[in-house]
Amino acid sequence: MLVQVKTFRDFMEVRRIRNECRTKMTNDQSHISIWRQFRFYYSYKFNRYITVYMWRGGLWNVCIGYGVIHRIGGKAWLTGGIGKGFRGLGFGEAVFKALISSLYEDAWLDVLSDNIEALSLYRKLDFVETDRRQTKYGEAIVMCRKYEFNL
Ligand SMILES: CC(C)(COP(=O)(O)OP(=O)(O)OC[C@H]1O[C@@H](n2cnc3c(N)ncnc32)[C@H](O)[C@@H]1OP(=O)(O)O)[C@@H](O)C(=O)NCCC(=O)NCCS
Repeated sequence: MLVQVKTFRDFMEVRRIRNECRTKMTNDQSHISIWRQFRFYYSYKFNRYITVYMWRGGLWNVCIGYGVIHRIGGKAWLTGGIGKGFRGLGFGEAVFKALISSLYEDAWLDVLSDNIEALSLYRKLDFVETDRRQTKYGEAIVMCRKYEFNL
């Protein structure tokens, strides 16, 4: 189940997953220290443009993955990841489907062009490529999924 991250303890669990995913990301790929996550936690409380979610599950109700909706330039940008030991089991699809269904607008994301797993997932979820740009981590593909109104 996807729940909004609220406590510092939750933030630390997300930090663990984020550090397992960082080499696949388009933005800051440096290791997230406890101190850095602590600062983010406090700034997050006052930042209405970012919402962080975590997916809990399994016998021990551990954090399996996370998802983020970041509002930039009037658009909703998504990102997320799954812990290394839980990939390939359907959790990534579940996290991104839950993020999408929480929106009433188009969903946007960018992904490194060599991130085959994520590209395949996004295409499966009907994201289409709109642009390509260079980042310091390589070529990124910008993708958009049009909002669909469903009764
Ligand atoms: C991308 C990621 C979120 C996918 O999560 P996951 O839980 O492993 O994926 P799922 O089991 O839900 O699979 C859903 C779809 O993803 C794609 N996929 C997942 N693993 C794949 C693999 N090894 N190779 C190719 N496609 C793959 C497939 O399209 C799959 O659909 P299918 O099962 O019908 O073939 C996960 O690999 C991850 O966290 N990667 C590191 C972080 C990251 O890249 N995040 C995205 C940043 S833009």
